[in-house]
Amino acid sequence: MPHSPEITIILARAQNGVIGIKNSMPWHIPADLKHFKALTVGHPMIMGRRTFESLPGLLPKRPHIVLTHKPDWQAEGAEVAHDLTEAIKLARQYSDKIAVIGGAHIFKQFWDSADCIELTEIYRDYDGDTVVDLPDMTAFSLTAQEEFEAENERPAFSFKTFRKK
Ligand SMILES: NC(=O)c1ccc[n+]([C@@H]2O[C@H](COP(=O)([O-])OP(=O)(O)OC[C@H]3O[C@@H](n4cnc5c(N)ncnc54)[C@H](OP(=O)(O)O)[C@@H]3O)[C@@H](O)[C@H]2O)c1
Repeated sequence: MPHSPEITIILARAQNGVIGIKNSMPWHIPADLKHFKALTVGHPMIMGRRTFESLPGLLPKRPHIVLTHKPDWQAEGAEVAHDLTEAIKLARQYSDKIAVIGGAHIFKQFWDSADCIELTEIYRDYDGDTVVDLPDMTAFSLTAQEEFEAENERPAFSFKTFRKK
């Protein structure tokens, strides 16, 4: 029997739970973009249609698997899936390590199957229209943590890795 893929959820979240505003990110933290790149290059990324449409363009060296209910939706460079099982099946063609990159609709469907959560915790409240509640974190252990202080306009933030117990 084939073993299950390793599913990593990657998200950046303000302390009031906000992750997005008007289909974009509420903050600009270059170190977080770099961190996201390091975590995702070489791995398939599963995302919602709205998140795909919020990207500045295709991100190099990472397959984009886009979930939509729209039967005819397509976009250049995107592989389309119409349910979670299909998305995981498409992703597994590339790697046994799958990144789930949002948005809120997608995160909540993947919490239960996540093996790992890579959380960028931003120590500030932001205005936004997309909010994520974290799952019961007692099911996870914090295995790595890196803290960054506020600097000029940039808020303090941390990178935290949680692994399923
Ligand atoms: N801070 C972060 O880490 C982070 C990460 C990613 C995104 N974001 C932000 O989050 C916001 C977007 O999030 P969102 O929750 O509005 O949208 P989303 O989760 O990116 O996309 C939602 C769409 O995905 C499709 N979908 C969801 N579940 C599905 C399923 N089971 N099967 C098939 N299709 C499914 C539907 O597309 P159709 O409507 O086409 O059917 C749905 O409308 C943006 O502001 C973005 O910038 C933030």
